[in-house]
Amino acid sequence: MAKFLLKQGRVIDPANKIDGIRDVLIDNGKISKIGAKVKGQGAKEIDAVGLFVMPGLIDMHTHLRDPGRPDKETIASGTRAAARGGFTTVCCMPNTEPPIDNQAVVKYVRDTALSDGVVNVLPIGAITKGLKGELLTEMGLMLEQGAAAFSDDGKPVMRANIMRRALEYARQFNVPIIAHCEDLDLAQGGAMNEGALSTEIGLPGIPALAEEIMVARDILLASKYGRIHIAHVSAAGSVELIRRAKHKGIPVSCETAPHYFSLTEAAVKNYDTNAKVNPPLKSPADVKAILKGLKDGTIDAIATDHAPHNIEEKNIEFNTAAFGIVGLETALGLVMTKLVAPKILTLRQVVEKMAVAPARILNLARGTLSEGAVADIIVIDPQAAWIVDPQQFVSRGKNTPFAGWPLKGRLLHTIVGGKMVVKDGRLLA
Ligand code: DOR
Repeated sequence: MAKFLLKQGRVIDPANKIDGIRDVLIDNGKISKIGAKVKGQGAKEIDAVGLFVMPGLIDMHTHLRDPGRPDKETIASGTRAAARGGFTTVCCMPNTEPPIDNQAVVKYVRDTALSDGVVNVLPIGAITKGLKGELLTEMGLMLEQGAAAFSDDGKPVMRANIMRRALEYARQFNVPIIAHCEDLDLAQGGAMNEGALSTEIGLPGIPALAEEIMVARDILLASKYGRIHIAHVSAAGSVELIRRAKHKGIPVSCETAPHYFSLTEAAVKNYDTNAKVNPPLKSPADVKAILKGLKDGTIDAIATDHAPHNIEEKNIEFNTAAFGIVGLETALGLVMTKLVAPKILTLRQVVEKMAVAPARILNLARGTLSEGAVADIIVIDPQAAWIVDPQQFVSRGKNTPFAGWPLKGRLLHTIVGGKMVVKDGRLLA
């Protein structure tokens, strides 16, 4: 395996309290040395002056659509999109066809990732069989095959007693339950956020309360029965509930996605189905609360909720279009442009929310550049300005509301397990 020396980049590794100019030597798939000046006998030198060198990002929430929907994404295409976006590990959600609800499908995902994938893939197993919210899956058997956590993402677990049992079961294995918080009774038939705008443009609304009420329930369940991670937080009320739960010491963590801090519900004003997502984009006050939650640490992680769809399910009437936004190839640019440039988050906090926290929540020995660690590393150019063009995406999903957006900050190189997968923004695999 090739030996690389990343020279004189700004290394940001919060786990080791490093933020400074360093050389990084990568040998035999591992980080072999980090220092002010490192000699790398026979190593291929890569100039990183003016660039940021960080642990590879970990996306806790990706839809790879494999098995079953190669028209939307595959493990091959989705992991390439991930690599191009700076993610060296993705956790893929189980709402596939068939769902990842037993050990055979977990094994299929792991095996296919090894043969066709270019980044690490950790399957999230379903909480309930068929994501129907009724019968618990065999979590232990799925964990043996490499599942990282459990979720019925895309759907809530409506029955509190099923959620209780899931928390108790998962606690025995010390893995989190990842909750898609949506009260289906309240959300029923909605297509966008409920409020003045939904009335004005005549679309059925989903009240923010549909999310908040389930966040409240799941926090209460976690206070007695186990550890919960709340997926795709979008509402101010959810942020406040999680903040208070954390103060009380309840084992809760959460993530938001770039569209929830970059856009408001105004993005659907022209019936742009590329901005139709579940939970729906919210009001400016909600966005403000998300930003505050990111800044004060209430929101632990930023995940993409990469949800590729084909044009047949997006290029149709708003009410019937699929929910979802692709995110793997825009997340880093949006974070740099919308959070780092306006000084809402520091680079250190970005690495914490996109690598360190996901690793901590999922018990992964990743997310740092410690000597001896697996060499999952990215190099980004903070000055590179670019324009989002979905036709350039490696993902099969082009459903983004960010087409044409100017962003600053771009992924240059992605190294996975010591192997260069993306170089100068281009896929090598
Ligand atoms: O917008 C969404 N799309 N939200 C979800 O929870 C599921 C996802 C999907 O699978 O398309």
